[in-house]
Amino acid sequence: MSPADTHPHDDASDAARKPSRRRFLQSAAAAAAVTAAPHARAQQPAATPALAPPPAATPMLPVKLTINGHPYELQVEARTTLLDALREYANLTGTKKGCDRGQCGACTVIVSGRRINSCLTLAVMHDGESVTTVEGLAPDGDTLAPIQRAFIEKDAFQCGYCTPGQLCSATALIAEYRNGDASAVTADVRFRPAQLSDDEIRERMSGNICRCGAYPNIVAAVKAVASGNA
Ligand code: FES
Ligand code: FES
Repeated sequence: MSPADTHPHDDASDAARKPSRRRFLQSAAAAAAVTAAPHARAQQPAATPALAPPPAATPMLPVKLTINGHPYELQVEARTTLLDALREYANLTGTKKGCDRGQCGACTVIVSGRRINSCLTLAVMHDGESVTTVEGLAPDGDTLAPIQRAFIEKDAFQCGYCTPGQLCSATALIAEYRNGDASAVTADVRFRPAQLSDDEIRERMSGNICRCGAYPNIVAAVKAVASGNA
């Protein structure tokens, strides 16, 4: 095509297609505005949420317990576990909280003759019952219980965190055995095993975990007391 064939408006069209500094700046400004838009929206003040009403005061419930032979009248929330009632309300911190979910046995106490995980039961469920904690195992303040002496003599603990639960569990275990209670490894559950074997002790103490691994010495201590050698 010769220059003579060029349409008079073609020059203007070419100019419009060619990049110019003004067109570049206009495009850049438009792109920046689009990019910034979300931030601009995010910076808008959020609507003030409606305030939630203050929680109603939690009602406290009375619980009467006999702990280690002493009467206690506690006021606890309905959701308070026996473990927390002992530690936080009765100020008996010998009972330990390990897992707080029934897996370690550190919180074992004896309630009306049966050992239980105190983290798995509510204090209000035991109104009127007797509880024995590690503080109540010894017959008086100066003398250790046989199982406590045996734990020391057999070196049955290291850090000692599991020990209150082990001691309560062992105390109840020996009573259960003497009572004729069978365990999962008792050969004939109609009869009490002739002796408290290591297997019997291991099975009956299996709910009490010792992270320090003092198990052989714990078994030795329980065996010594059960056989009257401690
Ligand atoms: S604290 Fe209760 S079982 Fe671990
Ligand atoms: S002595 Fe440390 S956990 Fe048992």
